Amino acid sequence: MAVPAGAALALLLCVLSCYAPALSSAAAGDFLRCLSASVPSQLLLTPASPSFTSVLASSIRNPRFFTPGTMRPLCIVAAANASHVQAAVLCGRRHGVRLRVRSGGHDYEGLSYRSVRPEEFAVVDLAGLRFVRVDRAAATAWVDSGATVGELYYAAARADPQLAFPAGVCPTIGVGGHFSGGGIGMMMRKHGLSVDNVLDATLVDASGRILDRKAMGEDLFWAIRGGGGGSFGIVLSWKVRLVRVPLRVTAFTIQKTVAQGAIDAVTKWQTLAPALPDELTIRVVIQNQQARFQSLYLGTCDQLLPVMSSRFPELGMTRADCREMTWLQSVLYINSGSTGQPGEALLNRTTSLSTFTKNKSDYVKQAITRESWQKIFPWFNGPSAGLIILEPHGGQVSRIADGDTPYPHRSGVLYNIQHIAFWSGDGGTAATTWINGFYSFMGQFVTKNPRAAYVNYRDLDIGQNAVVGGVTSYDSGRVWGERYFGAANFKRLAITKGKMDPGDYFRNEQSVPPLVQTPKQVSHTSSRHENCCL
Ligand SMILES: Cc1cc2nc3c(=O)[nH]c(=O)nc-3n(C[C@H](O)[C@H](O)[C@H](O)COP(=O)(O)OP(=O)(O)OC[C@H]3O[C@@H](n4cnc5c(N)ncnc54)[C@H](O)[C@@H]3O)c2cc1C
Ligand SMILES: *[C@@H]1O[C@H](CO)[C@@H](O)[C@H](O)[C@H]1NC(C)=O
Ligand SMILES: *[C@@H]1O[C@H](CO)[C@@H](O)[C@H](O)[C@H]1NC(C)=O
Ligand SMILES: *[C@@H]1O[C@H](CO)[C@@H](O)[C@H](O)[C@H]1NC(C)=O
Repeated sequence: MAVPAGAALALLLCVLSCYAPALSSAAAGDFLRCLSASVPSQLLLTPASPSFTSVLASSIRNPRFFTPGTMRPLCIVAAANASHVQAAVLCGRRHGVRLRVRSGGHDYEGLSYRSVRPEEFAVVDLAGLRFVRVDRAAATAWVDSGATVGELYYAAARADPQLAFPAGVCPTIGVGGHFSGGGIGMMMRKHGLSVDNVLDATLVDASGRILDRKAMGEDLFWAIRGGGGGSFGIVLSWKVRLVRVPLRVTAFTIQKTVAQGAIDAVTKWQTLAPALPDELTIRVVIQNQQARFQSLYLGTCDQLLPVMSSRFPELGMTRADCREMTWLQSVLYINSGSTGQPGEALLNRTTSLSTFTKNKSDYVKQAITRESWQKIFPWFNGPSAGLIILEPHGGQVSRIADGDTPYPHRSGVLYNIQHIAFWSGDGGTAATTWINGFYSFMGQFVTKNPRAAYVNYRDLDIGQNAVVGGVTSYDSGRVWGERYFGAANFKRLAITKGKMDPGDYFRNEQSVPPLVQTPKQVSHTSSRHENCCL
């Protein structure tokens, strides 16, 4: 009975690759024929193409979603210009094949290249659409969705070393998905989220049209700046406002063990970090029995030292901790801990498929007591324990109103928590048991009703859509959607979706459902004055 694992794997691979074409429907064949009229054959990859697997794997970050059991796409459209994206939408709608759009491939649940439900789909890969055009005088840039944030940082600094952009820490994150979900990072306290700095965008809608901000209207432009990727269309390009940074910034990392006072320092950090000068961001990584304070100050060591000694003497920071460098180097330092890498390292898109991870997120509005931290720290003991990253809010990110963008975690938020479990080989059961237990333990300390979460730290455990009558039901979406966006923003997202894509073509396990207001509801919500005029 026992089949060696290797043989079972080989058999499974064979079943998948040998029978995949037979499983495809007639619609799939029509879809491919339709595409081949507009997309050159070298950009249209089917499982029979020699480069299919390597292109599919190229930006996958998580080996959990690259197993023989993962649903593979019918084909990959490696778009080289906007017309290929339009063709994918038009052919997909005509023949009933849905699309997954992938920019950087960093989605925590792999939704940009896999389907959890057994349905046929195609991937539109935007990695080839990654031009960055900086207007130095205006301090703006147009950046294509397929660029990484590292490519954007590099292009901005190359045009002018004092130009930068507030976005995530990891340079390989794709602009398309990252901006679609918000974009939190080391400069959000000074300059807000990525989406707070988006001025315009071009998008291919469900009819295959290309719309800019003016043509799409303010509701859709609002929705795409944080309402989550994959719901409203395919964003091709974004116009952003670049921000000014000093020629030299100061980074420092200070580690404290529990014996060295980590618990007191973290307890104080909770209300201190969101209230520090906007130029100073101190985030915390808690792992093993240590807290690592990773910091970026938009200024010199001389300016920083008095701030640290008066506000946070518990860290015991001295001049020896300061590392002055360009802002571009600080990105590499904070991401990898190494100094002296050339700026070009930000252009490296290679990802590694060695570590399996599962992440979840929370927000904290009320500081957790010292006694509670004493109960939290023991969770970070043992071989299956993961880590958490605490990202302070306050400053500019919290000055913007909750409804100004779909990202609602603004005023009153002290910090975001990212829970991370990781493993290699088959350590998955212990690691996921750890993260589930820890997440449930933390429930008492974090936001409630709903327990908030960050859409860019996507987590399918918090809910998945149900399809009723051919479209995603609003009620099934509310379960997870109100946690990511808050009730008011989620409703506005769903109404916008109902206007732009009522047939729910752009759909995945956590896409915004269309809420189509019936004439009765419309007359309720429109004012008496408008009714008179009609
Ligand atoms: C190592 C790592 C570090 C991270 N660090 C941070 C961080 O510091 N701050 C932070 O905020 N987040 C961070 N994230 C999360 C990251 O912001 C999200 O995973 C983001 O969605 C990734 O964008 P992407 O283009 O790489 O992903 P993809 O997997 O390509 O896309 C993500 C989602 O958006 C959709 N989508 C992609 N492109 C488009 C498009 N052009 N138009 C419409 N929809 C689209 C996809 O279909 C999918 O649903 C990190 C993730 C990883 C893996
Ligand atoms: C896009 O690519 C197609 C080839 O598939 C080409 O015919 C077309 O001219 C290109 N369009 C633009 C705007 O470059
Ligand atoms: C979880 O977060 C870590 C740190 O940002 C990241 O390296 C990892 O890829 C994330 N997990 C998933 C599933 O992407
Ligand atoms: C790019 O990154 C990968 C993975 O981190 C690494 O192995 C490789 O050496 C890097 N390549 C260059 C040219 O730096």
